[in-house]
Amino acid sequence: MITRKSIVESQQWSREDLEHLFQLSDNMRHQCGSGGGRTISLKRTLYGYTMYYLFYEPSTRTRFSFQAAAINLGMDVIGSDNAGEFSSAVKGETLEHSIRVTVGYGAHVIVLRHPQVGAAQRAAAVCREYNVSLINAGDGTGQHPTQALLDVYTIQREMGHVDSLTVVIGGDLAHGRTAKSLSYLLSKFKDIRIIFVSPPQLAMSQEILDHLDKHHVYYEQAHSLRDVLRKADVVYWTRIQKERHAVALSKKVRKSKAADPETFQIGLSQMGDLKATARLMHPLPIARNPDGTGGEILAEVDDHPKAAYFRQASSGLYVRMALLNDIMIPNGKGK
Ligand code: NCD
Repeated sequence: MITRKSIVESQQWSREDLEHLFQLSDNMRHQCGSGGGRTISLKRTLYGYTMYYLFYEPSTRTRFSFQAAAINLGMDVIGSDNAGEFSSAVKGETLEHSIRVTVGYGAHVIVLRHPQVGAAQRAAAVCREYNVSLINAGDGTGQHPTQALLDVYTIQREMGHVDSLTVVIGGDLAHGRTAKSLSYLLSKFKDIRIIFVSPPQLAMSQEILDHLDKHHVYYEQAHSLRDVLRKADVVYWTRIQKERHAVALSKKVRKSKAADPETFQIGLSQMGDLKATARLMHPLPIARNPDGTGGEILAEVDDHPKAAYFRQASSGLYVRMALLNDIMIPNGKGK
């Protein structure tokens, strides 16, 4: 019997695993072609398998791309978009019980987004007993490993390589899980330089800095984008995660440089300061005003050739197809 692995955190990937996954992602992109991927041969890939998804927090890209990836590969898909309100969690059911029941209905893989750090680890422990895979699609301020996989895949596609790049990672580094997972994954590459940019209250956690020290990864911490833009090969910009801030912190952040457009907003003028070969990435969503103004990246940047964030989001489909394929049929071997 094949032992099915779970995807809980970025650290679990080796460089070899990444290379294999990225090749498979290219292959999926190729097989999907321009028609969106609904070919009979692709649909045979995981026919007979079922993916359940349980999302206790909002999502657009992660949820849709996992659903689309599973459907393209012929899987059955069952899920709850608003599990925090519409599942038995409101009646007091534990996550462990919800997972155990879901496994009982025949799930082969469960994709989980949950507000608590460590929820994916807990769910994976239940899944392991039944040889079912658990994929962490974001656990609070913890990690979002599949986002980091598609981020590094995008860097490789846009830049041709990942080694030796200077990557500026900025925004709410204290609460943003994508920045954390990306930092862990970048530490697998050679001669990487990471420059963290955030207001002091939202700086990257000590745990990540310790990990980078331990793996001899060069990093700096800066408080202004302007000072570091010219050095960047890739700028990975993220939103201020207001929903995760306590009231006291929100007040501090409003008064701090995070609210200062000069320091944390990217418009066409900042794009002009980037190297000719540099790219701007963002996991999305960009947090703009309801009328489309403002935000950590201005609307005027969306169609700029160096703005890679829509291409990045599209790549999520292929990386998640590759991931599902690889988890269900490791090394392409039998069902
Ligand atoms: C991110 C998340 O949920 O952590 N979104 C995503 O999955 N692309 C980023 C965010 O919410 O800011």
